[in-house]
Amino acid sequence: MALKIAVIGGDGTGPEVTAEAVKVLRAVAKTENFKVETSDFDFGGDRYLATGQIISDEEIDQLRAFDAIYLGAVGHPDVKPGILEKGLLLNLRFKLDQYINLRPVKLYPGVETPLKDKGPEDVDFDVIRENTEDLYCGNGGILRQGTQQEVATQEMIATRFGAERCLRYAFEYARRKKQEGRGKGMLTLVHKTNVLTYCGDLWFRAFNEIGEADYPDIERDYNHVDACCMWFVKNPEFYDTIVVPNMFGDIITDLGAMIQGGMGIAAGGNINPDPGGISMYECIGGSAPKYTGKNVINPMAAIGAMALLLQNSTDSAGNAYRAAGDRVEQAIMKTTPKLKSLSAGKMGYSTTEVGDLVCEAL
Ligand code: IPM
Ligand code: MG
Repeated sequence: MALKIAVIGGDGTGPEVTAEAVKVLRAVAKTENFKVETSDFDFGGDRYLATGQIISDEEIDQLRAFDAIYLGAVGHPDVKPGILEKGLLLNLRFKLDQYINLRPVKLYPGVETPLKDKGPEDVDFDVIRENTEDLYCGNGGILRQGTQQEVATQEMIATRFGAERCLRYAFEYARRKKQEGRGKGMLTLVHKTNVLTYCGDLWFRAFNEIGEADYPDIERDYNHVDACCMWFVKNPEFYDTIVVPNMFGDIITDLGAMIQGGMGIAAGGNINPDPGGISMYECIGGSAPKYTGKNVINPMAAIGAMALLLQNSTDSAGNAYRAAGDRVEQAIMKTTPKLKSLSAGKMGYSTTEVGDLVCEAL
């Protein structure tokens, strides 16, 4: 048996950092003694500009045959913003029903955080972002466009079903961390219940009902999203696991990425945890087009996305790859102290050399 991964390098520096992640994948497959099969797909800006196609439903069906999808980066300087994001990234998230967006916020050794006096023991929590509802549904429209009487609406959607499956994943996640001695067993719901009295209320009630009935061992905590931003900076050590709807989750995870050292290191997973679900792992940052082809971009986030893929994947025979993923993460933690900086061109090493360092550290 083998772990089968669909690889979408994507745009800009995406293919370069993906190459390093795949290099680490092959190295860890050797040390951990398992087989991997990767298949490359050319979805992205270049193909769109050449053919007008982003991804068809048949192609999405092809991706379902894999154990996981690995995505480099989306965003092309010659394609209007929104087209590839909607056509590829959000399309895959929605069609594959990847309803969890898992984003660990973890400061690795030797990495500089803008938070003075905070270290790796202070910045280590997980954000579980709902990934298929909320303002991302695209419900709304424009009336009398381009006139003085123009009206635009875009509605926030929360369903009990959508909130509940995300909340249950988050409670389970917090419980697993507690059982493994990696967390204090606390789940923080982030919303804005003082203003969003309908969607917020639905989430708040579901959170408390589910928690009270099925997770009495997990402490429930609540933050308004604005206050949460403040605490990320002031007391990040307070957090264990956070659960948050889509739009607020998008915003707080960029802040989370910064306090863990920036886009050079932050990775995430679009997860469909249901039986047979296909998940997709990616860097949180974009395609950094200006660095394309220069061998200067930091591949650490891409390698981190590969670690997350392994930690969360099983193959069709049911084998898990968590030990391999943990090993890659350990290798990342051994490598970060060697880099002068996480920024492109300032690492003291090239993109490919950083990939090699992680392979050696394995
Ligand atoms: C992210 C990104 C996407 C999002 C964009 C590119 C559509 O910001 O993955 O956080 O908003 O979800
Ligand atoms: Mg974002």
